[in-house]
Amino acid sequence: MSATLTFGAAPGALPLLGHVLSIGTSPLAFMAALPEHGDLVRIRLGPWPAYVVCHPTLVHQVLVNDRVFDKGGPTYDKLREVGGNGLVTCEHRYHRRQRRLVQPAFHRDRLPGYAEMMSAQVDTVTRSWRDGQVLDVVAVMNAFSTGVATRTLFAADVDAAVLAEIQRATTVIFDGVARRLIVPFAWLEKIPTPGNRRFLRARRSLEHHTQQLITDYRRAGVDHGDLMSMLLAARDDDANGLTDEEIHEQVLTFFSAGSETVSAALPWVWHLLAHHPEAEAQLHDEVDSVLGGRTAHYEDLPKLRTTARVLTETLRLYPPVWLLTRRTSAETELAGQRLPSGTVLVFSPYILHHHPGYYPDPERFDPGRWQDEAACPRAERAFTPFGGGARKCIGEEFAKTEATLALASMAARWRLEPLPHAQVRPAPRLALAPRSLRMRLRRR
Ligand code: HEM
Repeated sequence: MSATLTFGAAPGALPLLGHVLSIGTSPLAFMAALPEHGDLVRIRLGPWPAYVVCHPTLVHQVLVNDRVFDKGGPTYDKLREVGGNGLVTCEHRYHRRQRRLVQPAFHRDRLPGYAEMMSAQVDTVTRSWRDGQVLDVVAVMNAFSTGVATRTLFAADVDAAVLAEIQRATTVIFDGVARRLIVPFAWLEKIPTPGNRRFLRARRSLEHHTQQLITDYRRAGVDHGDLMSMLLAARDDDANGLTDEEIHEQVLTFFSAGSETVSAALPWVWHLLAHHPEAEAQLHDEVDSVLGGRTAHYEDLPKLRTTARVLTETLRLYPPVWLLTRRTSAETELAGQRLPSGTVLVFSPYILHHHPGYYPDPERFDPGRWQDEAACPRAERAFTPFGGGARKCIGEEFAKTEATLALASMAARWRLEPLPHAQVRPAPRLALAPRSLRMRLRRR
């Protein structure tokens, strides 16, 4: 198969800097142009080579061989340094045990319980909405998804002030991680600037509060139907559970992996709907007939097919996890190229999702293209918003449930109108959210 796959090098590398400037200034455009140069394309990050995987077959090979193409590379190294060795960041040798222990928390049987908490969170967020009000859509969707993350993790009767502090501390930590990813010198992180001190205080606060919650939950020994109860109940074949430190790392993992991603996707949905009246009208037809103006619940999901397609098409155009990295743990070969152990690989669902070879007219927002999966025959391997192989997103169903309930419930009662002359551009940081998005609420 690799005979037909091509290898190339990206032009325009600068002495010493390589492609760092192009990546820093317009990462999406830089990435989207790479397939022109090959299916596997060598770039330079400063003086170091890295390989960008641009073909779905090659991405699939990387995803399914997670022992050789292990978690690593600039993003994961930094995330691990800051956020520990949780399920998203850990290397292959720690992964299988963790995944087995965490998997029951995401079992289908648990979803209806989480869904109730999600529907309740929609009501909490929309309660104060008024006709004509201008919403900071990015901030509101972020408040929604961090609220869901907090509630589904800790459904016990926890002091609201403690939950609010956990949410606040987590937001400070993520901002800090995003900044640390772009600052190239580790020693800068040790200088006691106000930002670094705030970051360290937030980490200590989060550690303190989660430790307290772990102790309280262990003492009570009750299943609250939440993720935390499941993490505490998990046992491996030798009847060993997760240690407090491991649970702390998973809490941080669920917060970041769960809330950052959903909150990046939802604002794009509102932006796209506002500019595609036909798709918006189809969505309204569906939610009006299924919900008649009420909040959506788990039992409604099978009937919300158009809503689900709107979300799928949004994840295609703006995949929240737009950049992934790996590091080879042994010498291997890809697209006929020998890659020594320690080679950094980069791949991006964004590249695959915008490729005209797999999606006709790829920039067009068209939820209808998912109507008939058979009409999108090549889409499967070229559609990877949740990754694949053993490291595939454990929260895929959770996330789809959350986003579908939110979109359907909100659209049942509200429209979001664009503001005149608003410029909406992607901000490709850890997740691919709009840089800023303000829209006017209209009661339907
Ligand atoms: C639209 C929402 C989401 C998107 C687009 C998304 C995307 C992804 C992707 C692409 C990966 C694979 C990363 C890699 O291969 O390096 C991943 C892994 C993961 N995601 Fe998600 N995710 C979403 C929501 C969630 C939610 C809601 C949770 C948890 C509550 C979650 C938890 C995780 C975890 C724990 C992993 C690591 C799995 C493992 O390595 O075994 N994600 N996610």
